[in-house]
This record gives sequence, C-alpha cells and structure tokens, in this order.
Amino acid sequence: MLEHGGSVRKVARELGVDPKNWLDLSTGINPLGWRVPEIPASVWNRLPENEDGLEEAAKLFYGCRNLLPAAGSQAIIQTLPRLRRGGSVGIMAPTYAEHAHAWRKEGFDVVELEDVSLSILDQLSVLVVVNPNNPTARLIPKATLLSWWRRLQAHDGWLVVDEAFMDADAGESLTGDTGDEGLLVLRSIGKFFGLAGARVGFLLGSRTVLEAVREYLGPWNVAGPARWVATAALTDDHWHRETRNTLAHNAQRLTQLLGEHGLIVAAKTALFQWVPNHDAMLWWERMARSGLLVRRFDHPRGLRFGLPGDESQWHRLSTVLTSITSDSARSP
Ligand SMILES: Cc1ncc(COP(=O)(O)O)c(C=O)c1O
Repeated sequence: MLEHGGSVRKVARELGVDPKNWLDLSTGINPLGWRVPEIPASVWNRLPENEDGLEEAAKLFYGCRNLLPAAGSQAIIQTLPRLRRGGSVGIMAPTYAEHAHAWRKEGFDVVELEDVSLSILDQLSVLVVVNPNNPTARLIPKATLLSWWRRLQAHDGWLVVDEAFMDADAGESLTGDTGDEGLLVLRSIGKFFGLAGARVGFLLGSRTVLEAVREYLGPWNVAGPARWVATAALTDDHWHRETRNTLAHNAQRLTQLLGEHGLIVAAKTALFQWVPNHDAMLWWERMARSGLLVRRFDHPRGLRFGLPGDESQWHRLSTVLTSITSDSARSP
C-alpha cells in the first residue's frame, strides 16, 4: 500500500507530537466542501439503483455521452489494467503513484516519462496523464492530449487522463471529447466537492470499456447514500459557481502568504500549490513539529500545500511560517 496525504495521526505518533489540533494541509481536498444535508431513510434502507439520477446529473456536469460511477476514481485506476494484455505503459511523472502501482501489479512494463514524443507514443499501449498533475500542477493543453490520443489510437492504444483536480477550472478538460475508443477520462467528487469520504468517482469513455469495467466492479459498487450525496452535489450549480470564485481567491491568498516566507509557488491548481524547494525535508519537519502537516516529495524535492479552511487556520499557518523564518534568521 502506498503512502498518501492526510495521515495526521501517523505523523503525530512518529514525531511524538500531540495529535490534537493539527492543521492538515497535506491533501488537495477542498476544506470548504459541499455540505451534506440529512439523507432520507429510504436511501439507507433500499439497495442502490442505477436509475436514481446520478448518471444523468454527472453527464450534465461533465458534458459527456457515457459514464460509469465507481467507488472513487481509485477503483477505476485499479480496474483498468485488468482490461488489457501486456505492453508498455507510459506514465507522465512524477505523479499520483497509484497509477504506476496498479499497472505494475498487473504485470505491465511501466515507463515514467517527463515528456512525450511521437516516437514514444508509437511504442506505448497506454499513456496515463494526470491533468492537472498532482503534485506539480502541470497542465497539458487539450489539443496536445487529443493529438496524443489519435496517435495511440492508430495502434489501438489508450490515453487515460485522470482529471481528479479539473473541476474548479475545466478549460482543458476532455470530458466532452469522450465516447469513442481509446480515450478514457477519470473524474472524482473527492477534491473540488470535498467529498473524499463518500468514495464516488467516474469513468468516461467508450461503451465497450465502460461495460467491461462495470463487469469487474459488480453490482452496487457505489453505496446508496454516496450516490444520493453525489447527485445532489453535482446538480448544485449555485454552489459550483460560488465555490470556484472562493477557491480562486483563496489560492491567490495562499500563494502570497507562502511567497512572503520565501516559499515560492511554481505552479498551482485551485486546491493545492507546488513549491519546489531544496530544503523541503527541513521545512516539512519544522512545520510538522509545530502541528502543521503538508505533503513532502523527495523526487523532485518540494512541498505541496492544500488550502486552509477558515480564518483561524490562515492565522495558524501564518504564525507557524513566521516562527520558522524568524528562527532561521536567528540561527542560519
Ligand atoms: C490524481 C488523483 N487521482 C485519483 C485519486 C483518487 O481519488 P478518489 O478515489 O477519491 O476519487 C487521487 C487521490 O488523491 C488523486 O490525487
């Protein structure tokens, strides 16, 4: 099992710090997520039904022809490698490690790529791109991705695009281009909607691939209450608009605050910011000892910051960064 952000209790135990009152900025989950209202008792009592409105709501939100709900996009990441036999899989790296892990586990030869050329595409069965990328926030234009897909399709290859962080600004999203063979897009309601615990994600693609994945996942793979919550969140247009504005404003505020302490943001999404930094380990440890958890990466070296949720969290972040920078100024 791979390591992920959000493990406050584990880090607290390892560093011997009180696990209470941590500020957890180690994930890219919206801290101001969609507020879940009371769920009707019938939703708990009955078996989930495919015709409950979730698929229609998601198709409208993503603007696509076909999709398949799953218990988180993670469930799809783990299933896709079972649908193909052999070949080389290219993964744009560094990125969310579960992709490489899932393909390797099914016996595929995985090549981590910093860039993609046409000759590389001709040698790959599958190319996986996380767009925008987690953790580097790199965004590949839609036109480039479509040209890669056509090149891969010429030999029945797949382009898999994980758009888990695309909701806040979907300008380069491929959801509207899906439906034909070889282009597969993954979406999640865990990030922008802040509903990671509900475990709902979607696969968008051709009917043949969706049917094959549906077979693997089996009946009732998404729980009824999770389907109900996802449907309501996906249809709440007013919330989508307000949240996009709030996130954009808060992202700008975070970039500025980090910059004031010498942490220069190289790239960002609405939900997290990437700070390449040679002293990432040192920063991470000093922050963790003050009860502030961010995500640290060693290859390449850097820190990923999620957004604080309320004024007390902004204040806490600012206080911790100020105490670290003034300590370093005293003892360089
Ligand atoms: C890029 C990316 N894709 C997919 C996932 C899985 O998300 P979920 O299974 O909650 O939809 C994550 C989780 O962190 C992620 O960062």
